[in-house]
Amino acid sequence: MLRFVASLLLLCAAAGAAAAFTDGLLPNGNFEMGPPSTNLKGTEVIGRRSIPNWEISGFVEYIESGHKQGDMLLVVPEGAYAIRLGNEASIKQAVAVRPGMYYSLTFSAARTCAQEEKLNVSVAPDSGVLPMQTMYSSNGWDSYAWAFQATRPFAEVVIHNPGVEEDPACGPLIDSVAMRALYNPRRTNENLLKNGDFEEGPYIIPNTTWGVLIPPNIEDDHSPLPGWKIVSLKAVKYLDSAHFSVPRGTRAVELVAGKESVITQTARTVAGRVYTLTFSVGDARNACAGSMVVEAYAGKGTVKVPYESKGTGGSKRAVLRFVAEAERTNIVFFSTYYHTRSDDMSSLCGPVVDDVKLLSVRNPRRLMRRL
Ligand SMILES: *[C@@H]1O[C@H](CO)[C@@H](O)[C@H](O)[C@H]1NC(C)=O
Ligand SMILES: *[C@@H]1O[C@H](CO)[C@@H](O)[C@H](O)[C@H]1NC(C)=O
Repeated sequence: MLRFVASLLLLCAAAGAAAAFTDGLLPNGNFEMGPPSTNLKGTEVIGRRSIPNWEISGFVEYIESGHKQGDMLLVVPEGAYAIRLGNEASIKQAVAVRPGMYYSLTFSAARTCAQEEKLNVSVAPDSGVLPMQTMYSSNGWDSYAWAFQATRPFAEVVIHNPGVEEDPACGPLIDSVAMRALYNPRRTNENLLKNGDFEEGPYIIPNTTWGVLIPPNIEDDHSPLPGWKIVSLKAVKYLDSAHFSVPRGTRAVELVAGKESVITQTARTVAGRVYTLTFSVGDARNACAGSMVVEAYAGKGTVKVPYESKGTGGSKRAVLRFVAEAERTNIVFFSTYYHTRSDDMSSLCGPVVDDVKLLSVRNPRRLMRRL
């Protein structure tokens, strides 16, 4: 019997090691499995382990879609349930991962009554505080990405509300916690930039129609968008072709906050050599209409690309030719103007950038061998 148990344990350990998480919702990541009714006091969850697969701490509520709070009707993006984190409350789950790999966490969150909300997302020793005061989607829900590097075979994912509101039932709602292993894209002889088509990035929850916000880099040491950094005050939005018009492939980036939404990558260049930076500028078919301008910088070279958006999708190619001044050149994109969706006049939106390519003009092949 003992031997049987021992070999069973070994089997489990082997299976555990092989089954590092790749992508999708975490187990019960959409909270559709709730606590037994005996562990609910109204909406308050009683007991640290009463939500399957999760451990909670502090004042956590289990909210059914359609729940009324004063004159506010709470909706849930996926399935019928979500949780709400009160002051200093948190939820956590341990996930099998591969040490050394990078992972991006995606979750959906909505503010309820508090105005200035933040969430502290962590996988020790990394943590990031994501502000939620700027809303980007019309229904109140946004999805956020945050990345970390696994240091151990298990990642303890913690989402914590550091808030101290007067009313503890004013905290943010959380739903659809998902994760994706990121691979590190390489430069190729077709492109001196990594991940120029943005195909590699955070998990997009299939049933969400509002993309994923990638917060500024200051809040995240490891980018959920490999190769790229968001070096601004506000986030950029990561879009999928299932719900948006995307110039090429299945993913693109929307510059949702004018000059406060800046995306950059540092390329290796040879001083004195001529390069061309080509890229697509378009709109996401998300009712974001108007005269748009995307500004691109490469070292001292700059171009402003006008794009007339009807909000119905479409794109054009643009080019910036420049002479590199150093061994490293920063490639930078942002939107000159702020835009809001014409269907709700409140959610921020903007031009889409995709399919960014950098090549040396004279002899790209010889350059590639040297790099
Ligand atoms: C966020 O949470 C982590 C882990 O619990 C903690 O180390 C860090 O200090 C927290 N950050 C803030 C700003 O509360
Ligand atoms: C996504 O939506 C489809 C169609 O509405 C539904 O069948 C499916 O169960 C949903 N998936 C999740 C994970 O909620």
